[in-house]
Amino acid sequence: VKIVPVILAAGKGTRMKSELPKLLHPIGGKPLIHHALDLALQLTAEKPIVVVGHQAKRVEAAVGERGHCVLQAEQLGTGHAVQQCQPVLEGKADLIVVWAADMPLLTVETLNQLITTQRHGRSPFTMLTVTAQDPRGFGRIVRDTTQQIIEIVEEADASPAQLAIRELNAGVYCFRAEWLWQNLANIPLSEKGEYYLTDLVAIAVHKKQRIASISVQTEAEAIGVNNRVQLAEAESHLRERINRYWQMEGVTIIDPASTYIDATVSIGNDTIILPNTHLQGNTRIGSHCRIGPNSILSNAHVSNRCKIFASVLEDARVEDNVQIGPFGHLRHGAHLAEGVYMGNFGEVKNSYLAPGVKLGHFSYIGDSTIGENTNIGAGTITCNFGADKKKHRTSIGANAYIGSDTLLIAPVSVGDQAMTGAGSIVTKNIPADSLAVGAPARVIRKSTPPNQ
Ligand code: UD1
Ligand code: MG
Repeated sequence: VKIVPVILAAGKGTRMKSELPKLLHPIGGKPLIHHALDLALQLTAEKPIVVVGHQAKRVEAAVGERGHCVLQAEQLGTGHAVQQCQPVLEGKADLIVVWAADMPLLTVETLNQLITTQRHGRSPFTMLTVTAQDPRGFGRIVRDTTQQIIEIVEEADASPAQLAIRELNAGVYCFRAEWLWQNLANIPLSEKGEYYLTDLVAIAVHKKQRIASISVQTEAEAIGVNNRVQLAEAESHLRERINRYWQMEGVTIIDPASTYIDATVSIGNDTIILPNTHLQGNTRIGSHCRIGPNSILSNAHVSNRCKIFASVLEDARVEDNVQIGPFGHLRHGAHLAEGVYMGNFGEVKNSYLAPGVKLGHFSYIGDSTIGENTNIGAGTITCNFGADKKKHRTSIGANAYIGSDTLLIAPVSVGDQAMTGAGSIVTKNIPADSLAVGAPARVIRKSTPPNQ
């Protein structure tokens, strides 16, 4: 059987009160529409159809090659939205799985269960229901005395008795394709001027066809994001799910409630994540690391056995056994090789620090290369921004010893085993094995670095 997903994404999202289309709002580091597309990909290799309408261009750009967008020029309801897919899908699929793009917690297990139920019965379609104390404005499932679904009543149209029903329509369906295409055109125009997909229930009942249903295991799965309260609610559930996943993979999370891991992150086993830690974007962390507390890693690649303590890493890479913090800041292009130690209040940008480099206190290293085992004294600054308003590079050799408060005026280089005195202002290259002091720094004798 060929299964094609149809993702409904044309609605206005009015209640978000946002200039950003609702489906581009991120949770867990991914826009809502990407959650829907990732779910479709887990379900089937068939490209999903995405119905776009409101701010179609922006939503389409976010869908990209991952889905086939169909335009619903006027948003005349969920039934009308599915109708827009008929020309591209009719005769090309056996089952159509429809869901709204604003349901980031929906799981592939649930969709598969929906499909299995549909395939093993004779119903024209199977729908997903949720039983919840908070009805959230969802359509109510009306059943007869034999428990058959006979109607979906939208909240606005429901009688007081119907409003009390707690079994709700999650808005997720698996249709027999042929039946769907034959019956979509029979959906009547509602009083509100919309074509409700849910009116297919009445159409089936009228033909004495039974509608199958399954119910979601966890209520959170049915959360649809319509406003910012629900956005935060969905994110909190997602966060819980992600944290639990990494815990089961062998990661210690000291306080899940204050640990924020994007859906796009990966973490090795026996790593410990301390409270108030944010792991964002394409961040990858190896095994046996200790990350946090109070750290933010965004697109950071961290190898094994590293300690990151109260620090911020952005677009940076650190190899094994690196120690950073407290209060370190790695910016884009920072690359710390094995065993680098970067202590209090350091900032590194677009620089390579070779294995064993030590940078203990209050330093700025930008656009630089630092050789193996070199010691950078407290307060060292690479002055990379020239009078020509361009960035220049600093190169420091291996086993060098840069004295406290040295200013390196780039472009400049310091040779292997070279030393600078405290407070040196280095404006000219310092050859290997020599000691330079003063402002501007002059070579005074051969060096004998203490870290040799
Ligand atoms: C719909 C269901 C309701 C269900 C609820 C679950 C109908 C008539 N009602 O109500 O029973 O409990 O979902 O969330 O289906 N959309 C379009 N084009 C349109 C209208 C909507 O693409 O013309 C999309 C929206 O972007 C959204 C989804 O369809 O992703 C649902 O639309 P929405 O207006 O939120 O329907 P509800 O009133 O919530
Ligand atoms: Mg909705």
